[in-house]
Amino acid sequence: MENFTYVNPVKIIFGKDTIKEIVKEIPKASKILMIYGGGSIKKNGVYDQTVEALGGYEWSEFSGIEPNPHYETCMKAVAVIKEKNIDFLLSVGGGSVLDATKFIAAAACFEDGDPWAILSKRAVIKKALSFGDIITLPATGSEMNSGGVITRAETQEKLAFGSSLTFPKFSVLDPTVTYTLPVRQVGNGVVDAFVHVMEQYLTYNEDDTLLQDHLSEAIVKTLVAEGPKALSTPTDYNVRANLMWASTWALNGWIAQGAPEDWATHMIGHEITAFYGLDHAQTLAIVLPGVMTVLKEQKGKKIIRLGKEVFGIEGNGAIEKTIEAVEGFFETMGVKTHLSDYGLGDEAIEKVSKRLADRGWKLGECGNITSDVVKEILILRK
Ligand code: NZQ
Ligand code: ZN
Repeated sequence: MENFTYVNPVKIIFGKDTIKEIVKEIPKASKILMIYGGGSIKKNGVYDQTVEALGGYEWSEFSGIEPNPHYETCMKAVAVIKEKNIDFLLSVGGGSVLDATKFIAAAACFEDGDPWAILSKRAVIKKALSFGDIITLPATGSEMNSGGVITRAETQEKLAFGSSLTFPKFSVLDPTVTYTLPVRQVGNGVVDAFVHVMEQYLTYNEDDTLLQDHLSEAIVKTLVAEGPKALSTPTDYNVRANLMWASTWALNGWIAQGAPEDWATHMIGHEITAFYGLDHAQTLAIVLPGVMTVLKEQKGKKIIRLGKEVFGIEGNGAIEKTIEAVEGFFETMGVKTHLSDYGLGDEAIEKVSKRLADRGWKLGECGNITSDVVKEILILRK
């Protein structure tokens, strides 16, 4: 196991009817900006519950954060914050709204030029506004981590950032608010969380991070058991609660400590979204089986372990059968796994691998996934 230093300061408020508890967390004198997306919160009662809780505060709102949130929209929120002297942000929505809120919190305090540098040059975040969130879509883990991903529509770039100053102060996780998720977003959420675990678990590593491996398997088993139930019985509270907590655990940092991490599937997927607008999880469902196939020697022992522990696969051909099982699970969740399912083909493969060649990135836990390897992976996923 590698050395590590780890802190996760996010206060989790979990369970039914917990939105009202935000009043215990937000200082009374705050000037709050509530940030949300396209309006799902107005249809499922989350907006009304939040407004009621904010009764004793001075607050205003900013809406219209899009899925795969845009830098351009975030900068409009920054202007509102400056104009109104806002000092606390409240994100109400899915991972996109929360990622946007994290970026807005940092961009509003950025004094070294254009805040785009936080994404393009990984400029250090020296200060950020405080913020909390009510998360409405279990998927990203953004509610218990300090990262975010922002898209610049103008240049079709989707880039990640993170800082110890962009952890939420608190996150409210009420599983009942997820009852209204469309089937597509339920599938997306489960696939995203599944792949987050794979990015931290499915590496050359074996046996030296046993606790992290067992935790990873527990998260994935929960997703595999409960994911399909969320599609068939959408208002089963315990199913939604298990999925919500498992998704948070998939990317709250614990399973990565002391272990190598891959993240190639995500980096390739971000380029597909940036160019073609696919949902984040759709790109992951396409790419991961390709990464597993092309890297099967490097990752073989872990793939076999995944097959045995999660899918009950043993014996001859365990690696191939496990890759098929992973792909089959994504399809069960309603997320298609080939480029052609989304109308993409050779042109997309060329464009994505060229973008990665231009960036000069070498991806994966061994830094051996060059743009040529990316092309090989994507050709398998036509
Ligand atoms: O915008 P509204 O109207 O709110 O509708 C949203 C949106 O259309 C809707 N929705 C959310 N909660 C709902 C609901 N509809 C009905 N009932 C509810 N309870 O769902 C749609 C998708 O929402 P979005 O926030 O985009 O989804 P998700 O949470 O999957 O977030 C995806 C974004 O997170 C980034 C992705 O790249 C993508 O931009 N990620 C962030 C990570 C992080 N911060 O750690 C890690 C991930 O790997 C990921 O990259
Ligand atoms: Zn993800």
